[in-house]
Amino acid sequence: MKILVLHGSPKGQTSVTYQHIRYMQKMYPGYSWDIALVAHEQNSYAQGGARREGLRQRIQAADFILWSSPVYFFLVPAQYQLFIESMIEEEPELFRGKPTSLLLTSIHFFDDVAAKYLQQTVQRLNMDYRGFFSARPGDLLNAIKRSNFEKHLAHIFSQAPLNVTESKVLVIREQGETLDCKVEKIKAHHANAKVINLEDYHIKTGCVGCIQCGQKHQCPFQGKDDHHLLVQEILNHTVVYFVMKNSHEIFSAQWKFFFDRTYYKNHIPLFAKQIFSFVTENDPSDLLTRVLQAYCEFEHCVMTGVASSNEGIERLLQEEAKYLCHGDRPSETFLGIAGRKIFRDEIWAHLRVFYRADHLYFKKHGFYDFPRYRTRMRDAISVFLLRFPSFRKRYQKSIKQRMIRAYQALFGE
Ligand SMILES: Cc1cc2nc3c(=O)[nH]c(=O)nc-3n(C[C@H](O)[C@H](O)[C@H](O)COP(=O)(O)O)c2cc1C
Repeated sequence: MKILVLHGSPKGQTSVTYQHIRYMQKMYPGYSWDIALVAHEQNSYAQGGARREGLRQRIQAADFILWSSPVYFFLVPAQYQLFIESMIEEEPELFRGKPTSLLLTSIHFFDDVAAKYLQQTVQRLNMDYRGFFSARPGDLLNAIKRSNFEKHLAHIFSQAPLNVTESKVLVIREQGETLDCKVEKIKAHHANAKVINLEDYHIKTGCVGCIQCGQKHQCPFQGKDDHHLLVQEILNHTVVYFVMKNSHEIFSAQWKFFFDRTYYKNHIPLFAKQIFSFVTENDPSDLLTRVLQAYCEFEHCVMTGVASSNEGIERLLQEEAKYLCHGDRPSETFLGIAGRKIFRDEIWAHLRVFYRADHLYFKKHGFYDFPRYRTRMRDAISVFLLRFPSFRKRYQKSIKQRMIRAYQALFGE
């Protein structure tokens, strides 16, 4: 397979993101890797001429295109944006139908927005989008996070037929003729899926905000209506399809009753083992997609996506099979990571009296992951030394190299 990487860091090869590309090359030595430093060598790629013509041929020859970039100010670096804009204007047809994925590095501050920008770009170019990976500098040096990256690569590059054993599939649907064909489409793939109607579950009330659940993660309404039965159905299945009406900007209030009442688990994940897919009556709004993504990141579950069309549902089914086969998880972004840090700090500092059950859970499961003292000591020494001009000068000169030095061990250097 010929892979073309359109690399968006202005630092070229001396870049954290680039180290991920090197690792991919190491993982897949049989593939042919062609890397265009389109942001680093922005001028020669942005203008017409031999370089640009050469790139056109490289795009045509590629079987797979990877967009790799750091996050800069909520988006991608300006040099990369300029390149993307020129591509959309001048070469929109070159990319049509090509398999593609995104690789971002950042400290996860608005990486969801940068990912969205690139997703919309590849959609405009009519590419075959296979997903994104968002890493923090240093993640590649952590064995667990590196293994997540490897699973993600298997997910995006998989060519062999997927070997998936049938899992327990649940479809929770609202009533309405417009949704029938969508449920049929899922059933055509999962003949044994259990289909239930949301309306058959009597949910007496939404959350009333009494916070009585804060002590033991138990709702005072538990057992007084059918909410817990619906939760149990979800927990009994691995794969869950939510088939929703969305004639307003968001899902119907009926669903909101259900989601609000899951608040009895406060700020801990309830559906972490599930794979969720969302099928909507009409095209999902950005708001709806963002809320569902945030919900799934909060829940630590796998989300295959949101879709309303037949092709979209087909894509969700394929994604579900890949997640089951490769055991990877979608990248966590700003939505989940920032949320978790807010809850971590709030429960620790102010709310642990109300949310005692959360506090005990956070303690037991390592949610209190405050920055460690060891790195603070090391940084304090550097900050002290930076007062001295000669040290400062040498330090500043070597800063780009320092940022990637630790990766050398990965490549036996
Ligand atoms: C100008 C600038 C803006 C940045 N903006 C963001 C940002 O909005 N969100 C974030 O999480 N990280 C941000 N970062 C951090 C980079 O995304 C991060 O260090 C990245 O790993 C650098 O990748 P590279 O070495 O491949 O260029 C910014 C860095 C710079 C220099």
